[in-house]
Amino acid sequence: MGSGQFKDKVVVVTGGGMGLGKAYCKAFADEGATVVCPDYNEEAAKETVAEIVVAGGKATTMKVDVTKGDQVEAMVKAIIAEFGKIDVLVNNVGYLKRLPLLQTPEETWDKIIDTNLKSAFLVSKAVAPHMIERKQGKIINLSSVVGLVAVASPPYSAAKSGMMGLTRILALELAPYKINVNCIAPGFIRTPGSSAVHNSPVGRRVNEAVPLGTGNTDCIVPVVLFLSSPGADYITGQTIVVDGGFTAAHDFGDEFRTLDVGK
Ligand SMILES: NC(=O)c1ccc[n+]([C@@H]2O[C@H](COP(=O)([O-])OP(=O)(O)OC[C@H]3O[C@@H](n4cnc5c(N)ncnc54)[C@H](O)[C@@H]3O)[C@@H](O)[C@H]2O)c1
Repeated sequence: MGSGQFKDKVVVVTGGGMGLGKAYCKAFADEGATVVCPDYNEEAAKETVAEIVVAGGKATTMKVDVTKGDQVEAMVKAIIAEFGKIDVLVNNVGYLKRLPLLQTPEETWDKIIDTNLKSAFLVSKAVAPHMIERKQGKIINLSSVVGLVAVASPPYSAAKSGMMGLTRILALELAPYKINVNCIAPGFIRTPGSSAVHNSPVGRRVNEAVPLGTGNTDCIVPVVLFLSSPGADYITGQTIVVDGGFTAAHDFGDEFRTLDVGK
């Protein structure tokens, strides 16, 4: 168990059934929060809840597709009816299919934009009135380094850049109500769902290209907890890049760094 810093807080993590979302749910519960993890993969979300409950924490799940406005409205209504408030919202759901522009069908564009961007708009819009009423709240949006530099997938890149813009305007609109809205852009993070990629030859090349190597969920969890805490009360509208130095450096090797250009 942690220090109990989120005791009496109600935390909603969308897509808490797997990967990073699951890690946030477990960390918040460990710190005393009541965690709600809506996910359209009900089995996965139930597994997250079961692991939290076995460890002595409080958590619940609901089967929701957070790209659908009516389902999101019903979800928030149910959470407020049961718990009375939402202190922290983590807009975490994501979906990626790596295809180049000319091979990207319109449906794939729509699914990637809806999952990675529209969901954050819908859930924030439904949750914000309850935070405004209490004049407090923290919203954390999950973007990616692909929102900053070109790596793969036109719709994923567009959605993850969009998440940073959405963060800034929500931060401005909600600041009068003491609601902080921030964004995290993780780099290459090993999760159970992505370990096949990271273990492949191309995954090993990625690991070598990142100064601190491929990350894991423990690299992102403390940043989510910090942005959800009172310590971050004066931070809003920001994107925190947590990428092991990937966007800071392009390594052409010692030879290049010590190249004598003859001056
Ligand atoms: N893993 C990484 O390396 C990495 C890097 C940068 C950014 N991110 C971002 O972090 C977030 C989490 O990534 P992950 O790798 O843990 O993802 P993941 O694919 O392992 O898990 C996503 C979860 O969201 C759920 N979900 C997807 N669409 C949904 C919908 N419409 N309604 C309800 N639930 C839905 C899935 O069922 C799943 O449980 C995503 O936004 C992702 O883009 C991940």
